[in-house]
Amino acid sequence: MDETENMDITGMPLGFPDSFEQIKEMTMLYSCAMREICTKLENLSQEFELKEARNPIQHINHRLKKTESIRKKMLQRKLPLEYEIMRDEITDIGGIRVICSYINDIYEISRMLKQQDDLLVVREKDYIANPKPNGYRSYHLIVAIPIFLSSEKQIIPVEIQMRTIAMDFWASLEHQLRYKATAAVSDSTRRRLTNIAEDIFNADVEMQQIYEEIVAIE
Ligand code: GTP
Ligand code: MG
Repeated sequence: MDETENMDITGMPLGFPDSFEQIKEMTMLYSCAMREICTKLENLSQEFELKEARNPIQHINHRLKKTESIRKKMLQRKLPLEYEIMRDEITDIGGIRVICSYINDIYEISRMLKQQDDLLVVREKDYIANPKPNGYRSYHLIVAIPIFLSSEKQIIPVEIQMRTIAMDFWASLEHQLRYKATAAVSDSTRRRLTNIAEDIFNADVEMQQIYEEIVAIE
């Protein structure tokens, strides 16, 4: 049998998602879930604008993971390409990024979200307190939110990544570089990137201290 028979033009096995209808359904569900969470964050932001001296939320982005990327991730993790498995295992199909001013803002926003009783915390990963070996820092919160449809309720996960402006600068460029690199990146170049992440973290900590000193004397 021709080995490519069960593959699509990108070399992926056929059969997942198994229909255009299923893709449309997924897109709808995960878009609904992201919209719910974005609204919660925008509501907090609006309240800060009204009641507080400053808004800790700089901006909010969101993205829906492409079907191709979902399939790739499932294949990498050696998961069977089935809708139910995707639903249970891939928690970053809906992704939201919240950029905050200071490190403490991240923990405050996370606390505010976690106390909302329609949200279920699925997983929390604090890569600020425990950075990745390459220096990556961010706070990841995976939550699940009920989506009320015409005749059923579905619980859909969304990944919220929270980071400072400085951490976002590093993560965005590091991500770009990783995809641009055509040859293996040398250890010394990796170390330089990790050192920059460390410098950025120190700058974030110092900015936080300066902010607290200035606010304290006001
Ligand atoms: P994956 O999504 O497969 O990585 O699952 P995981 O369980 O390893 O999740 P993790 O929390 O480590 O990372 C999820 C997301 O965080 C990624 O999709 C990226 O958006 C971001 N991320 C994690 N590590 C890095 C990193 O080293 N550099 C950059 N730029 N982003 C990262
Ligand atoms: Mg990862």
